[in-house]
Amino acid sequence: RTPEPLILVIFGASGDLTQRKLVPALYKMKQERRLPPELTVVGVARRDWSHDYFREKMREGIEEFSDGIKNEELWNDFAEGLYYCSGNMDDTESYQKLKAFLEELDGKRGTRGNRVFYLSVSPQFFPPGIKQLGAAGMLSDPLKHRIVIEKPFGKDLSSAQVLNRVVQNVCKEEQVYRIDHYLGKETVQNLLVFRFANAIFEPLWNRQFVDHVQITVAETVGVEDRAGYYDTSGALRDMLQNHLMQLFCLTAMEPPNALNADSIRNEKVKVLQATHLFDVHNLEKSAIRGQYKAGWMKGKPVPGYLEEPGVGENSSTPTYVAMKLMVDNWRWKGVPFYLRTGKRLPKKVTEISIQFKDVPLLIFQSAAHQTNPNVLSMRIQPNEGIALKFEAKMPGSELRTRSVEMDFSYGSSFGMASADAYHRLLLDAMLGDQTLFTRADEVEEAWRVVTPVLSAWNGPAEPYSVPQYEAGTWEPTEAEFLMNRDGRRWRRL
Ligand code: BG6
Repeated sequence: RTPEPLILVIFGASGDLTQRKLVPALYKMKQERRLPPELTVVGVARRDWSHDYFREKMREGIEEFSDGIKNEELWNDFAEGLYYCSGNMDDTESYQKLKAFLEELDGKRGTRGNRVFYLSVSPQFFPPGIKQLGAAGMLSDPLKHRIVIEKPFGKDLSSAQVLNRVVQNVCKEEQVYRIDHYLGKETVQNLLVFRFANAIFEPLWNRQFVDHVQITVAETVGVEDRAGYYDTSGALRDMLQNHLMQLFCLTAMEPPNALNADSIRNEKVKVLQATHLFDVHNLEKSAIRGQYKAGWMKGKPVPGYLEEPGVGENSSTPTYVAMKLMVDNWRWKGVPFYLRTGKRLPKKVTEISIQFKDVPLLIFQSAAHQTNPNVLSMRIQPNEGIALKFEAKMPGSELRTRSVEMDFSYGSSFGMASADAYHRLLLDAMLGDQTLFTRADEVEEAWRVVTPVLSAWNGPAEPYSVPQYEAGTWEPTEAEFLMNRDGRRWRRL
């Protein structure tokens, strides 16, 4: 399918995301002939740029961050649809000017009043921006006007509710596209296919057979140059409340009736409603935070979080978080879900692993002198694929077992690189398909689950009282305890 002719208005167009991701993704879609010829992009930002300067910057972005420009004719055609309109997010006049400009472009480009407003701006500008768009009548038609926003959607339950109310005062839920870029990843979408296009796994996918589930999103990068944002956010808000919760929902939810936005989102909300921290009264048994200290990455020394430029003195912002969640429903009652994410860990890896129960009686000798339960691991990134660990007989006269793996790898089965998540999400927003976007109630439920931990961690902390882990190593020991207490271990990935 190709989107209807429309104008994509990008607020914050002078920023990184536009140049690195959004415009290169659009150009790729142009190459793939997935865009209508009328498609028009209007960049909005405070700087006083000309249309031509904007086009030049976008060309640089495509050359630097994607495959580059191989066909000048195609580029010229694409560039003709790029425009720039300077404006200020909280200034009413800017919206009037923009509105008039968009109407003028409708006449020139045949875009028929269809608009997608992409707010690629800092979250404090969401409420004023959305209110101003509403007041200017630019979101008045649910069939023609959409709005795309990116996390963070609030910083706890109450601020998320406030933001949702602002949005709902101005437009209908079907106009709102909340991006969680993890949902744009092929391997994340494959979770649904794996679970619901195969008959053999679903019968095992429950408390009768599953011992526990581990979800890991490990990163090697530190805070980079984002301390301004990150130091007020931290791993729980930045990663766990959104990306890990989405992985959790897709793993734990019930089968949807159909592949449409509301069926899927209803199931995600239902599972979140049944989800709670392991023990709200003993938070240390439910959640552990950590902060990286100086260490080594790939043989090079790296500074600790507190030494990173822009990080507040004695900041207690967690760069690591581990959480134990329980789901009170028939499928999962009693099965813990352990989630962990952190920066400056030894490896970049995202994985969901389903750990099955032990055999009731082991009649063989195992090489590892223990029972080795089956593990199904879904590698979201890198080395995208799925592996099933099971026991096999070791060659030889004795009946000894050892763990082996059956492995599916995206690369070798499909032989092509996955498209960037933004490519898919931007296209879906233009097509009007909300399946891969999060709904207001889903965001609020995810905040509800984690907010007790945020409140507990909110108080002033003594310097270095947040558990430390050395950059380049796995979790702090406190997070090991979270598992060991239950007689389990984190997977070494
Ligand atoms: C972003 C976070 O949402 O996701 C970053 O703000 C994080 O801190 C990034 O590094 C990770 O995304 P990916 O796709 O590289 O796993």
